[in-house]
Amino acid sequence: MNVMELIKTRQELDDRRSQLRKENKSVGFVPTMGALHQGHLSLVEAAGKHCDVVVVSIFVNPTQFNDPGDLERYPRDLEKDMQLLENTPCELLFAPSVKEVYPESDTRTFDFGQLDRVMEGKHRPGHFNGVAQVVSRLFEMVGPHKAFFGQKDFQQLAIIREMVRQMNFGTEIVACSIIREPDGLAMSSRNTLLTKKHRKSAPLIAKTLSESCNFVPSKSVADTKAFVLKHIEQDENLIPEYFEIVNGDTLQSVDSWEESPYIVGCIAVFAGNVRLIDNIIYKNCAK
Ligand code: PAJ
Repeated sequence: MNVMELIKTRQELDDRRSQLRKENKSVGFVPTMGALHQGHLSLVEAAGKHCDVVVVSIFVNPTQFNDPGDLERYPRDLEKDMQLLENTPCELLFAPSVKEVYPESDTRTFDFGQLDRVMEGKHRPGHFNGVAQVVSRLFEMVGPHKAFFGQKDFQQLAIIREMVRQMNFGTEIVACSIIREPDGLAMSSRNTLLTKKHRKSAPLIAKTLSESCNFVPSKSVADTKAFVLKHIEQDENLIPEYFEIVNGDTLQSVDSWEESPYIVGCIAVFAGNVRLIDNIIYKNCAK
């Protein structure tokens, strides 16, 4: 088992990184905002399978929070996170301060075209610009061969791939499937913030998405959308913000199942003041 090393500064990370380069080790990177759960740990395990050394970062990135209350409430527990990482392939844990990541404020604006004008991008203005700011900085600091992201944040993956393309990072992006609680709820750091009654209602989101699979291809996209929204709305503890059925590559809405072989349903729902996202890949829907 690896002995994990905690690194807090850019300088220490630089030193460790040059050493790894000399040793010709491949580096797998898992960026996170902490409050780790099995979803995060599945990415760490995947990185361990693909690469010689696994670097995990824990950094609650202020520039990607469009709601100051959300940033304030975001769960933080480095000690517990370190315990969870003990029995994983993580060798270096990078947990920098805000000053370390942003010695000066980041004024860069990215252009992701249509990719961030929909769904999360539309409802959380500036969110993906902040994600791109921090992930590009972390990539520059860590210099990973491969980086691992969850499909839970489906749109984020598309944005990261586009950022890597635009900035010519040599990093390969590896997508990992969604890890769920036994009752189907997609694991999320924000789940710990749910009240008892909202936690009880939350699995309806995944259950409804899963049921909506039966609509493909006999019912229309419009009917499927209406079903999902109506079904979730019936629970008074859940308020959907959007449900979009999109082409999985372009993220643009589709009107029929024949439009693309890769169609995904993406949803955001408020359970009290906690915002949950989830998605489902409608496989083989064009058949
Ligand atoms: P965070 O929400 O901590 O998620 C870190 C990584 O874990 C992301 O790639 C996310 O998709 C993945 N993840 C979260 N829940 C998952 C689940 N249930 N199953 C599988 N993977 C899951 O996403 C971020 O942080 C930030 O935006 C970040 C990329 C770190 C930039 O700040």
